[in-house]
Amino acid sequence: MGERFETKTVHIGHQPLRQVKSKSTPIYQTSVFAFEGLEDVEQYYAGEGEYLYTRNGNPNQAELSDAIAALEGASAGVSAASGMGAIMAGLLAVLKPGDHVLASHEIYGGTYALLHKELSRFQIELECMDLNEKQTLADHVRPTTRLFFMETITNPLLTVADMPYWIKQAKEHGLTVMIDNTFATPYLLQPISLGADLVVHSATKYIGGHSDVTSGVLVGSEELIARAREIVVSYGASLSPFEAWLTSRGLKTLALRMDRQCDNASEVAGYLAQHPAVRKVHYPTPEATRFFARQKQGAMVSFTLEDESKIYEFYRALQWIKFAPSLAGVETSVSHPVTTSHRAFTEEQRQASGITMGLVRLSVGIESAADIIDELGRALEK
Ligand SMILES: Cc1ncc(COP(=O)(O)O)c(C=O)c1O
Repeated sequence: MGERFETKTVHIGHQPLRQVKSKSTPIYQTSVFAFEGLEDVEQYYAGEGEYLYTRNGNPNQAELSDAIAALEGASAGVSAASGMGAIMAGLLAVLKPGDHVLASHEIYGGTYALLHKELSRFQIELECMDLNEKQTLADHVRPTTRLFFMETITNPLLTVADMPYWIKQAKEHGLTVMIDNTFATPYLLQPISLGADLVVHSATKYIGGHSDVTSGVLVGSEELIARAREIVVSYGASLSPFEAWLTSRGLKTLALRMDRQCDNASEVAGYLAQHPAVRKVHYPTPEATRFFARQKQGAMVSFTLEDESKIYEFYRALQWIKFAPSLAGVETSVSHPVTTSHRAFTEEQRQASGITMGLVRLSVGIESAADIIDELGRALEK
């Protein structure tokens, strides 16, 4: 170490990685990794050293993506700075200019925008289909069709299309199947077991679970993930070590949270279904989720008010359930699709889709179901 104050302040006390037996994974909050010598750099590029620069890879990112890959039954995974980063990496790992994508017409708005507005600039064409109708994929597949994309439980109407039916057909046509499993999580379903090639998560939601992190994970075969990882690195969509660490910490309680949140959601859906101020409850049926690995219907419940003009009063009357346009945290929250995620819809599209002014999307948390019901009941009385 240098002798002088200025040099000492920079170098003193530095502790390169030591063999300490910490119980929890340390946060590798470093943008770069140090090498002993030039030989080590050569080793890294020969595939023998693990880490060079955090945008390219970091132990916290790997902890998260390895865990999700294992839980989803995939051979590899890559984490990304958001669910959208992971979706982008998955799409670009497969698609090239001139390709055609078949997707459900009920996909997350951000995914639609990525495909429709951004990837269309690279001559990638999107076609959306109604997966709730049992049509045959053959009527839509073209010689250029490369990828089939759907979500397990859709947002905000929480429909569950027959995933085994669609995956089987997509595979028969040689398409790569990519599933957004954000709403179900690997606790309820592992789409790889149904034949999916890529599974993506907005880990911002149930995997993180505490509304304090933005992150994404993509899992699949070694080959597809190797390509997706190159895309994450080149497009600068890498997950920060701290965000990766927070997400991994959240993941540890995924099973506990999902059990509680799904059970609460089931009680809340039952309560809302018999309430005179509620016209319709959107909540998956056991029949729709029969192919899930676990017989639970997810933890989201949407509902439409009988008198849609009372929607402003309803949101104002909520005392502790927060209005927040995201989902899946341990705290129950509500969102309003028409003024948030589906703002761009015309009145005609709203009526056709059922995403109308009176639709409330409820993300059920881990609190007492009785308290959630009391709070909703109070607001509905008003
Ligand atoms: C189903 C689904 N997929 C992907 C995303 C995008 O995830 P993120 O916000 O982490 O980029 C979201 C965000 O709400 C989502 O609901």
